[in-house]
Amino acid sequence: MSGAHEQKAPLGVAAIGYAFMGKAHSQAWRNVAAYFDVPAVEQRVLVGRDSEQVAEAAARYGWAESATDWREVIARDDVQIVDICAPGWLHAEIAIAALEAGKHVLVEKPLANSMAESERMVAAAQAARARGVQSMVGFNYRRVPALAFAKQLIADGRLGAVREVRASYLQDWLADEDSPMTWRLRKETAGSGALGDIASHAIDQVQFLLGDTVTEVSGRLHTFVGQRPGPSGVEDVTVDDAAWATLSLAGGAVASVEVSRVALGRKNSLRIEVYGSAGALTFDLERLNELEFLDGAVPVAEQGFRRIVVTEPEHPYVGAWWPQGHVIGWEHTFTHQIRDFLLAIRDGAAPSPSFEEGLQVQRVLAAVEESAAAKSTIVQL
Ligand SMILES: NC(=O)c1ccc[n+]([C@@H]2O[C@H](COP(=O)([O-])OP(=O)(O)OC[C@H]3O[C@@H](n4cnc5c(N)ncnc54)[C@H](O)[C@@H]3O)[C@@H](O)[C@H]2O)c1
Repeated sequence: MSGAHEQKAPLGVAAIGYAFMGKAHSQAWRNVAAYFDVPAVEQRVLVGRDSEQVAEAAARYGWAESATDWREVIARDDVQIVDICAPGWLHAEIAIAALEAGKHVLVEKPLANSMAESERMVAAAQAARARGVQSMVGFNYRRVPALAFAKQLIADGRLGAVREVRASYLQDWLADEDSPMTWRLRKETAGSGALGDIASHAIDQVQFLLGDTVTEVSGRLHTFVGQRPGPSGVEDVTVDDAAWATLSLAGGAVASVEVSRVALGRKNSLRIEVYGSAGALTFDLERLNELEFLDGAVPVAEQGFRRIVVTEPEHPYVGAWWPQGHVIGWEHTFTHQIRDFLLAIRDGAAPSPSFEEGLQVQRVLAAVEESAAAKSTIVQL
């Protein structure tokens, strides 16, 4: 095995993209070593298209340098990690080139915009893994302490056999029909709409929490606002505003998924409810420090959902932060993600979610589209 395993010098990081996710990942790279015992890293270079703007962002977010050509950056000897915070249409091209250049890759979700791209990325990840080069996809909500704890409770059998999951992810930033066109509203750049953007998170959670795999899908997509103002006049929206799906899992559970970017009043509400034969759980990302747990072993007359404030040192990730009850935020999930990625690199182990797990989510997304195009016919995976 070569590379990072024996590496003593700091790992050089390059991030591609400096807007929303670039900013979120930058704060995680900046603070991860202050809170967690991880290999040393250096924020070497931030990449964007506009040299002035990316230079300003690099200075603000703690990067030593900025650049405008990601191909030159991934070829650099002082870069060992490439963090892809660019839109989906660039994921496959950058990730495959970076893996082939021997760089560990963290790529934002969803893995890519299509099955074909995702499959090529998995092939590149497998070849790289054989050379000790790691890869991971950024389903950061796996690193919300309450959800990581929920997974433990389910794995420990506290819910008994899981029967049903309700996963909804509702936002309202597109509720205004005058909201302008962006890359997220064009099929050629985003792949899909709310489906790939946020149902990908919900589907990943269903499979992550249950440790199970979706086998059957029925889906529906809808676009409520068909045209929006673009830079040169009115443009057609070519992706969904909202998506619905029912999923069968190999272990026998059934899940419903409902996502929208036009659900007025819902800001970033990823809600998960899990019902088992011996207990139940509910979670809402807008209250991410809390998990509600109903223990079916309690006498019925005393049963009810208990609110657990997931800030004890015993809870996943939390011991590194503040004393009990001193809550953490959305941005901490990215620090936890990078912590786990760095530990995997240190240990020469494959991090999770792997590109294979990203591909499995992609299969479900593709099946929702296929089903939706055929009047919600059930599609087998
Ligand atoms: N995990 C999460 O919670 C979460 C949240 C939002 C977005 N995302 C994902 O993150 C990715 C990026 O989304 P975003 O919201 O940050 O988008 P954004 O539009 O805010 O930022 C995209 C960035 O990519 C850069 N970019 C575009 N083309 C480039 C090129 N050729 N070379 C270098 N840089 C280039 C842009 O300059 C910009 O800085 C997407 O895959 C998205 O699905 C994840």
